[in-house]
Amino acid sequence: MRADPLTVSLETVIAAAPMLGHPLEDRALIRAAQRPELAAAFREVSRIPLRNPEQRGMFLVAPLDVLVVNCEAGRKQFHVTEINGTGIGGLTNLPLDIVGTVLDGFAKFAASLDAPDALVLVAVSGMESSKNPRQNKLFYEKMLYAEAVKRGLDSRGIGPTARVLTMAQVEQDGDAVRSEGPAVVLGYIKQLLNALGLRRDGRLHLHGRPVDAAINDRFCLNALSRLGHLVDMSRFHTMNRTFMAGSDKGVAYELINEYTSSGGWEESFPRRVEFTRVHNRPEMVAAVLRWLRMGRKVVIKAQGTGLGHGVEFFLDPEEDADAIIERIDHSIRVTEHYYAAAGGAFPYTLVEFVDTCTVPRRGHPLFGHKYEVRVVVYRDGDDLCAVPSISKICSQGYEADRSGRLSLINNITASAEAMKQAGTEFMLPLCNEETLGLLEITRADMEGLCVYCAGLIRHVLDQAQDHPERFGLSGVQGALSEEDAALAIVRA
Ligand SMILES: Nc1ncnc2c1ncn2[C@@H]1O[C@H](COP(=O)(O)OP(=O)(O)O)[C@@H](O)[C@H]1O
Ligand SMILES: [Mg+2]
Repeated sequence: MRADPLTVSLETVIAAAPMLGHPLEDRALIRAAQRPELAAAFREVSRIPLRNPEQRGMFLVAPLDVLVVNCEAGRKQFHVTEINGTGIGGLTNLPLDIVGTVLDGFAKFAASLDAPDALVLVAVSGMESSKNPRQNKLFYEKMLYAEAVKRGLDSRGIGPTARVLTMAQVEQDGDAVRSEGPAVVLGYIKQLLNALGLRRDGRLHLHGRPVDAAINDRFCLNALSRLGHLVDMSRFHTMNRTFMAGSDKGVAYELINEYTSSGGWEESFPRRVEFTRVHNRPEMVAAVLRWLRMGRKVVIKAQGTGLGHGVEFFLDPEEDADAIIERIDHSIRVTEHYYAAAGGAFPYTLVEFVDTCTVPRRGHPLFGHKYEVRVVVYRDGDDLCAVPSISKICSQGYEADRSGRLSLINNITASAEAMKQAGTEFMLPLCNEETLGLLEITRADMEGLCVYCAGLIRHVLDQAQDHPERFGLSGVQGALSEEDAALAIVRA
């Protein structure tokens, strides 16, 4: 069969990217090292049905970040540290059949939109800092999303075919987005946020054009926070619908604690995540000092941020209060600058520090480096499945008495940027016996983790249906009052 003569393969896009001024990072080698039989075994052991067909429209994919701790008899304990969502970077680390399932899910989501002129936003992380702009090396994954969304919009057979636009065009010419017909707009989170507004009827708009849907959990939460949570959620279709759990660690920990307490999970998972939420700087300073006085090590995390932005570790009970306050202020400034979060990305979550395992094999290039594992939960038709994706390894070795930030942050982008190396230098494929052997994680432990992760997402979906108010979903519907409209404008 002859291919569409105007289609370019991903391989060619990645190869040509440096000539276009935006180098991209290929994940083909990681993907090829995922063993199909292992991936299939993890997927099947964790498979769990949705509670009802309505949950189909609420969830597509979430990569869970999981800290790993040694416990008795060579077993591991797993601490889910965040849920994340459709902004996932590294979808293409997974076997192709899973990539295909997730992309088909985006197409079906777009196909379910009623508005003939539907406008769908696809947000990408990157370019957070104007002083130190970072191009996203996996940008092509969101291009795949945009194509899938276009496919879905076109499959409806109503009106003209959908256009794919980017914020680079829209920023030059706002009319591009205002012309008729369905469209997908691809842009960096911050570019999109800066162009968003709220109409009096509670609808989001982009340069005056109503927005029907958006993809990327962190973007969805940031859009709502910026507009004072006054968006009419019945007309703003977010994927995932559970974006709040994916982008606010405090919301996630509460759900995780409920889920674990209902389970009988024994020692493989901590009984509780110890955390608290703080709503402003004085509360945060007081809480960090109090935790340290009680002998607890503490990590602070901002709302709606990623890549370790705003994360600070307070591990030394003797640290000077001024130094602590300086680091808290630094975190707040980072979130203001990177996420345009006026006054800082509050509420923050304070969580107890977990002293995780390091790569245990002497002689390995990453020996002594801390790591975490990523398990991707995705929807496969009417089921949820979990598959381990990669292990993310710190760029610097860990020494208990001299622990710098780079030896504590297992983030691929942070490691790659700090060491000026490819992100793939700091990751290992997880559906792979050699990696599991290197990290001394048994297959049974990994299976247990996959079962836990898929079940956790089912719990999150059930809660979003039963208590939409917990997820910012029950908010305003219809026209705003004068007062609310004024408030939204002030916040924006
Ligand atoms: N409770 C914790 N104990 C120890 N390290 C942590 C803890 N929570 C997070 N980290 C470290 O901080 C990094 C970033 O935290 P994470 O919650 O994943 O936020 P982000 O959205 O910035 O990725 C993690 O990759 C891990 O290295
Ligand atoms: Mg993370």
